[in-house]
Amino acid sequence: MSSKLEAIGIAKRYGDAVALEPTDLAVQAGEFLTLLGPSGSGKTTLLQMISGLVAPSAGRIEIDGRDVTHVEPGKRGIGMVFQSYALFPHMSVWDNVAYGLRMRRKSREEVRAAVDDALAMVRMSEFARRFPKELSGGQQQRIALARCFAYRPSVILLDEPLGALDKKLREHMQSEIRRLHKELGATFVYVTHDQDEALTLSDRICLMNQARIEQVGTPADLYDRPATRFAAGFIGHSNLLEGALDETRGARGEPILLAAGGRIPLPMNAGAPTASAARHTLLLRPEAPRLVEPQDGFVDGTIADVVFFGSDTRVQLSMNDGSELTVRCERSLSPRIGDRVGLVWDPYRTTLLHA
Ligand SMILES: Nc1ncnc2c1ncn2[C@@H]1O[C@H](COP(=O)(O)OP(=O)(O)O)[C@@H](O)[C@H]1O
Ligand SMILES: [Mg+2]
Repeated sequence: MSSKLEAIGIAKRYGDAVALEPTDLAVQAGEFLTLLGPSGSGKTTLLQMISGLVAPSAGRIEIDGRDVTHVEPGKRGIGMVFQSYALFPHMSVWDNVAYGLRMRRKSREEVRAAVDDALAMVRMSEFARRFPKELSGGQQQRIALARCFAYRPSVILLDEPLGALDKKLREHMQSEIRRLHKELGATFVYVTHDQDEALTLSDRICLMNQARIEQVGTPADLYDRPATRFAAGFIGHSNLLEGALDETRGARGEPILLAAGGRIPLPMNAGAPTASAARHTLLLRPEAPRLVEPQDGFVDGTIADVVFFGSDTRVQLSMNDGSELTVRCERSLSPRIGDRVGLVWDPYRTTLLHA
């Protein structure tokens, strides 16, 4: 399958500082790909090199198989939306959306049809005559989206477009952006530092850390099979259990990790035991374990805290070796602080992590 967009060995330095190590990334046509990572990890730098606003120090960018590395931003066939809406304050909503089309010398009829269409798409038709200052933050961001969509770019780059909105509006706009992505059929590359936003929106997530790509995969890949400790820690809540492999295997021949004061069965394919002194880290998501009697658990401990989360309850456990685990628990079990409990789980719902 050929890619819509490809970064090949793309890199950026500012003097001695590395903003992006040499990076390869391919985005498929119509895909929603999110660049996720902490502040300073190189997300904006990568996006701006795709857009052409920042010139790479090395490597190249291809769109539809064509090298556009030296093509100016306005001629790459891409649209951009940023956190600051950057609407023209002295122009009406309608004129703001029409601006890019007029710059592209479209006919009156084409401009009218495209603007009306774009405003309808973001459900802002009745606001066409207003000025930006007469709109809420969320409405302004819709106009910024309409302005970008109006000329139907086949690639749309969005850099933290919902970052300035409050939580409730942000969640509403997330579902709007999903809908717009489907309706437009364009390729979206979306930047965010918010893991929930990335999990909700994306076909694939490109997780970035310290100027390089940490892991690329579907939201489920990253959640269920994080490749590194960083990936496990950045996406979702994670319990990291550290220990050494036991020299003897379990009853069914499975490898056993000695951690959290217990004998923990690992997936059969977790890998042959290395030097027995080597430390290993097992990722256990809070929703994997089931609470059982203390003597029946792989591990056991004392309930140190119970936190109500609305849809579920999180129980904080102090394990026998002094470590702490967080597990999700059905409210009907009414866990109480001070209770002793054991935990069991399906070993295949855990992941042995690389250092
Ligand atoms: N114009 C610039 N001059 C110098 N350093 C920069 C410039 N732009 C970005 N950087 C540096 O590059 C790194 C990555 O920045 P950026 O791509 O903006 O990260 P992110 O978008 O993930 O927060 C940061 O350390 C940042 O300080
Ligand atoms: Mg940024």
